[in-house]
Order: sequence, then C-alpha cells, then structure tokens
Amino acid sequence: MARILTGIQSTGRPHLGNILGAIIPAIELSKQKDNESFFFIADLHSLTTIKDAEVRRENVNATAAAWLAFGFDTANNLFYRQSRIPEVCELTWYLNCFTPYPMLANAHSFKEKSDKLADVNAGLFTYPVLMAADIILYDADFVPVGKDQKQHLEMTRDIASTFNHRYGDTFVLPEAKIDENVMTIPGIDGQKMSKSYNNTIDIFLPDKKLRKVVMSIVTDSTPMEEPKNPDNCNVFALYSLLASEQEIKEMRHNYEGGNYGYGHAKQALFELIVEKYAEPRKLFNHYMENPDALESKLKEGEEKAKVIATEVLNRVRGKVGYL
Ligand code: ADP
Ligand code: TRP
Repeated sequence: MARILTGIQSTGRPHLGNILGAIIPAIELSKQKDNESFFFIADLHSLTTIKDAEVRRENVNATAAAWLAFGFDTANNLFYRQSRIPEVCELTWYLNCFTPYPMLANAHSFKEKSDKLADVNAGLFTYPVLMAADIILYDADFVPVGKDQKQHLEMTRDIASTFNHRYGDTFVLPEAKIDENVMTIPGIDGQKMSKSYNNTIDIFLPDKKLRKVVMSIVTDSTPMEEPKNPDNCNVFALYSLLASEQEIKEMRHNYEGGNYGYGHAKQALFELIVEKYAEPRKLFNHYMENPDALESKLKEGEEKAKVIATEVLNRVRGKVGYL
C-alpha cells in the first residue's frame, strides 16, 4: 500500500488552474486501489503571507469545500487542517536543527518571494522545513506536486536522510510525483493562472459573475467575419481543456470558418463550465453555506491524523533523547 500526501496552501479560493493542475489529479490518484491519501490544507504555511484571521478562515473553508466538491472520499482517506495537528511544529523544530542554513538560503522559492514581498519574515525562510515535517510526520511514500515544488521535495529527502544517517532509520524517504504532462493552465490574460496575478477563473462564482470573468478573457482584435487561428487563442486553449474531442473539433472549425466571434467562443466556454461543473459548483456552495458539515469532515480526518503523527513523533523524540 502506498501513502500519498499533498497539501494546498489556503491563500484564496481555488481556481481553475488549481483544480485542473492539482485537485483533480490528486483525487484521481486517491481512487487507485491500495493507495491511502492524506490531503491537507496548509493553513500554517499561509500565515507567512495572510495575517488576517477571518480571511484565512474563509480561505480554509473554500479550499476544503473545493476538495469535497470534486469528490474526495474523506471516509477512506485522511482530510485535515495542518494547524490542528500541532505535532508538526515540534517536528519542524527538530528538523530545523538538522537543516543547513545555506540550503534554505539557496531555495528558489525563498529568493523569489523575498524579491517580491514586502514582508520577508523568518516563516518564509523556514517554509521548506515545515513542509518537510508535513510529509515525514505521516511516513508518506509519494507526494504529488507541481514542478515548482520539486526543490522542496529534494530538501525534504536531504533533511530526512541526514537524520536517518545520524540516528538510524527513522523516516520514510518520500518521492515527488511530478506529472510533466499536467499543463500550466493559462489565466484570462494568457500568463500562468495564479492568485498572485489576478487573472484567475473562479468556477464557483455565481453565473453572472462567472460569465463576466469569462467575457474578460483577453483576445486579439480580429473582426468577427474573419477566420481566426484557434492555436493562438486563450479562449480556445481553455475550452480545449474542458471540452470533448468532438466539441473541440467543432470549435476549431468555427474559428477557421469565419463569422464566428470571440464573444461566441467565450459564451460557449462559459456554458461548458456551467454544464461540466454543475455538480461541484452546487456542492461547493452547499459546503460554504454549511460550515458545520465541513468542520465535521475535517475533524474526522484530524482524529485519524493525530494518531499517526503522535506515533511518528514519539519515534523521533525517542531518538533525539526527549523521551
Ligand atoms: P497560485 O499560483 O494560484 O497561488 P498555488 O501556488 O497555491 O497556486 O498552487 C496550488 C497547486 O495548484 C499547486 O500544486 C500548483 O502546482 C497548482 N497550480 C497552480 N496554478 C496552476 C496553473 N495555472 N496550472 C496548473 N497547475 C496550477
Ligand atoms: N508548498 C506547497 C505549495 O505551495 C504546499 C504544501 C505545504 C505542500 N506542505 C506540503 C505540498 C506538503 C505537498 C506536501 O503548493
């Protein structure tokens, strides 16, 4: 049996890029026989950037609701908030003492964030150590992540093997599962869709607002009557990610035939999102309106996670001499 573990920071409402790039593939993996999945909301990590308690709580709920809306089976797996298993903080401290300073100083994500953000706090600096603790606290075998997290996984393995070398086998060395085929989903401006670029499609918005976002996708100014090149068009790219082969073929034909405007294509994309994601949109709203239902699913996972975390942490405490 393989243990799959991954986390998503609660930095906002999950968008189409997060859903297609992370949530759906992870849920697919969790459905494979013999896999046991640990999916959690990295709400401690999000404190590095989000300081407002109410905003963070809302983001935690939205992130949890998105996992549930796409059908994560919480009864047969583990679903939890990182902060509710504070054992991870104790493990982080132990790991900090086995993490060379230059390893953190050279991390790409720290360099990038410290160039961009005004608030460069120590939490951002030690972010990878907390992430290593997230993973090895649960003896995870595989960690599905995007390419941007590759270095963090290498650090996790380095830290865990330094510890194992010093104290004998203690931690499972996790493997990153990076799907090179998972596309980078473009945002409404054609750049990578990201909360930080303000270019996201939030599929959970009410119809009218969602339509407005879809209508604002940037296109060129080819007149309605003229044929258009679908392969240069952001609307077509997004449509192709969701549509059936037949629908894609038809839209390509429409583009190339002329007398088909970007407005038509955007309307078709909007309708496809609403149709394809009818059930997840309904479920998402259900959970957002019923936080008690969310809470009880998370609590159930947190009880299970706590048992495993305590066991692994005791193993570590024993080795370092605190038991
Ligand atoms: P954001 O850039 O919006 O802040 P995160 O960094 O929180 O997104 O990413 C959460 C997960 O979603 C990661 O696994 C990441 O690889 C995936 N992801 C984010 N944006 C995209 C995108 N545009 N295309 C594909 N996957 C994405
Ligand atoms: N750093 C990850 C991201 O930004 C989120 C994360 C935190 C994570 N802890 C993790 C991912 C543990 C996988 C495993 O996307």
